[in-house]
Amino acid sequence: MSEKILVAYATRAGSTGEVAQAIAETLRQEGLDVDLLRARKVADVSPYRAVILGAPIRAFRWMPEAMRFLRRHREALSRIPVAYFAVCIALMEDTEENRRLVESWMEPALALLEPVRVGLFAGKMDYSRLSFGERFIIQRMKVPEGDHRDWEAIRAWAQEVAGVLRDRMAEEE
Ligand SMILES: Cc1cc2nc3c(=O)[nH]c(=O)nc-3n(C[C@H](O)[C@H](O)[C@H](O)COP(=O)(O)O)c2cc1C
Repeated sequence: MSEKILVAYATRAGSTGEVAQAIAETLRQEGLDVDLLRARKVADVSPYRAVILGAPIRAFRWMPEAMRFLRRHREALSRIPVAYFAVCIALMEDTEENRRLVESWMEPALALLEPVRVGLFAGKMDYSRLSFGERFIIQRMKVPEGDHRDWEAIRAWAQEVAGVLRDRMAEEE
């Protein structure tokens, strides 16, 4: 069986794509063989030993592209370790209450599979990357612009996941 790990992601304004890239780079530094792909471009997950799936939260749900990926590949994913990560603005204030809220938005994905780890990260708000309609909603909700991504926390999470995946792969050998 191949040793490859897939980092699959959805993104709208690009910030989650950059988080996925940082996770893939960290896994590579940890010695793992990683493919980084947009979730909707993945036709088959059977070549992979493990999958990390990430997407932003939009309108109180994980971006539908990630949910479609889970449903499409659910059977194959149920046989390998899977980790999720979500990027959102609610965690620009990283409180217990906000974490619980974001976890509740992840419930549909958690009901489909049991991930080995779930990473919840603060994202980025950049009005210039939004459509007219999106900007209207976001400004009415008074969400300020800013990049709240904590690269150290993201890389630390990826290192932890690398350890979990390595242990799992060793157990299966
Ligand atoms: C239209 C819209 C809706 C959003 N809805 C939520 C939300 O419900 N909860 C939240 O915490 N963040 C929300 N966000 C913030 C995004 O999750 C955040 O900006 C993220 O970094 C965007 O990821 P992307 O750049 O990969 O698209 C929303 C952003 C937009 C533009």
